[in-house]
Amino acid sequence: MSDSETARELLTARVAYELGSLDESELEATWHEQLTRWLAEATRAGLPEPNAMVLATADAEGRPSSRMVLCKGLDDRGVVFYTNYTSAKSRDLLATGLASATFPWFPMQRQAHVRGPVAKVDPAETAAYWATRPRGSQLGAWASPQSDTVASRAELEARLADVDRRFAGVEHIPPPPRWGGWRIKPQVVEFWQGRLNRMHDRLVFARDDGDWRIRRLAP
Ligand SMILES: Cc1cc2nc3c(=O)[nH]c(=O)nc-3n(C[C@H](O)[C@H](O)[C@H](O)COP(=O)(O)O)c2cc1C
Repeated sequence: MSDSETARELLTARVAYELGSLDESELEATWHEQLTRWLAEATRAGLPEPNAMVLATADAEGRPSSRMVLCKGLDDRGVVFYTNYTSAKSRDLLATGLASATFPWFPMQRQAHVRGPVAKVDPAETAAYWATRPRGSQLGAWASPQSDTVASRAELEARLADVDRRFAGVEHIPPPPRWGGWRIKPQVVEFWQGRLNRMHDRLVFARDDGDWRIRRLAP
């Protein structure tokens, strides 16, 4: 496809959103049960990386960034992902204490969105998750100064070879001190189901004075 055909395609591409609907009467009692249900449905539907979410943060001056992370925990306390505490995203989280995350489930014509304050996951919980990661990912986390500039691919490979030597013979590699989980503790959780004619369903759990209320938003 030529560049101009691609540009035209962007203007004309339309998807009819008619796979489903979301009514107040079908919602689970809590945001986390509803999100767990949608995650389970996305997994059962065979979506690639159903737990991938776009994490948005802002720096101290309000400059936003976003990137994908994987949701690795979900319960009434919040939504958990793991990363490097010295990464750009963690610098933002340390500066503002706030994040949002959106699960993009395109084939189901759905998205779910959470936002609220963040807190570091307790080191024991981080260690328990770390232990489930394959050795290769563990070595990679030790080797990578996430978000820093590196001179070359060769430098990264050399770092990996170094940590591989360092942990040779070590059965249980510990988590790097600069690595761990963040928990987003939502104050707002939105469930979005595409509908025909852009009349989408948007149901929101919002926390007011400690109580959760459900509202419908216009699409
Ligand atoms: C599908 C997918 C899942 C990802 N999951 C994670 C993750 O769970 N944790 C993480 O630190 N980076 C993850 N990444 C890489 C991030 O998107 C990002 O490149 C990295 O964390 C550095 O981001 P930062 O420089 O904004 O901090 C993932 C990327 C993709 C495409």
